[in-house]
Amino acid sequence: MTGVRSSTLATFLVDTRAHVEGALDRFLPAPPDCPQLLSEAMRYSLLGGGKRLRPLLVVAAADAIARRTGTRVLELALPTACAVEFIHTYSLIHDDLPAMDNDCLRRGRPTLHTVYGDGIAILAGDALQGEAFALMAREPNSDDPAVTARKVAAIRVVASAAAATGMVGGQVVDLQAAGQVPGHALALTPPSLRAMHLQKTGALIRASALGGALMAGAEPSQLDAIDRWGTEVGLAFQIVDDILDVEGDAAALGKTTGKDAAGDKPTYTSLFGLEQAKAMAAACATRAHAILVEHNLTDSWLDAIADWVIARRN
Ligand code: IPE
Ligand code: IPE
Ligand code: MG
Ligand code: MG
Ligand code: MG
Repeated sequence: MTGVRSSTLATFLVDTRAHVEGALDRFLPAPPDCPQLLSEAMRYSLLGGGKRLRPLLVVAAADAIARRTGTRVLELALPTACAVEFIHTYSLIHDDLPAMDNDCLRRGRPTLHTVYGDGIAILAGDALQGEAFALMAREPNSDDPAVTARKVAAIRVVASAAAATGMVGGQVVDLQAAGQVPGHALALTPPSLRAMHLQKTGALIRASALGGALMAGAEPSQLDAIDRWGTEVGLAFQIVDDILDVEGDAAALGKTTGKDAAGDKPTYTSLFGLEQAKAMAAACATRAHAILVEHNLTDSWLDAIADWVIARRN
């Protein structure tokens, strides 16, 4: 197929999620290649719900680029789409552990460690991270040096977003800011809160959009646009996550609300209040839209996805 030619955002979401859900299951190792217990634990967290925002961003960004060239993108983008969901799911499993946020509900079900124990939850997260990069290196399977170069570029972007300068780095600051690292407490200012959000959540969201654009063969100026767009949407996403922790509905979210205040976490709502936090998320979306206009990328799903990120209730 030449991109994803759905007619509304709702059908794009349904169509793309269907492709992603099938590929997530297909790309994950199963017995006899890995222990039955590990396979079950990975699938429990990975296939048990979730919005699939990051895979949707990979496919939408690839589609935004491919519309201009008529390239077939889904098969190029799906491995990266699944890899970022593997990494995101691992980050949720570890985020919920007693040593971190100590949450018992995720994606509408008991958290992995409450079902299989902390050890298996840690190992399932570790395995999902490694499998993500194995998948990106392996698929799409091609002898074409251009495809190999795109794969290496996408792996580089996703790896940095997942690790010390991205998600893990942000999670370290989050733990320090919540006073959970003895002798290493940090008081966050507005700029350092913004930096933490950009790392812990923004980085993987930005890398998802960039990874999709890279796999579709984007030009440097397009990559720069997607990079800046993804940064705005990534920050907006975590601001809205903070807002929903205060005023969201646990049943719709599939996770416990009120956790940030209970854990004394610095968030956009605790630093700025609900109304200003909402205005700041909306300002990110406005800047994201302007970037698409400037680069002639509004005839894609990216704009509608940014609006959805701001308006979401789950
Ligand atoms: C929740 O992410 C964790 C954050 C990074 C804020 P999502 O809200 O995307 O969670 P799922 O994937 O839909 O469960
Ligand atoms: C999580 O942030 C960021 C991750 C990297 C997983 P939160 O701790 O706020 O995410 P939720 O609210 O538990 O989903
Ligand atoms: Mg957390
Ligand atoms: Mg959490
Ligand atoms: Mg949260």
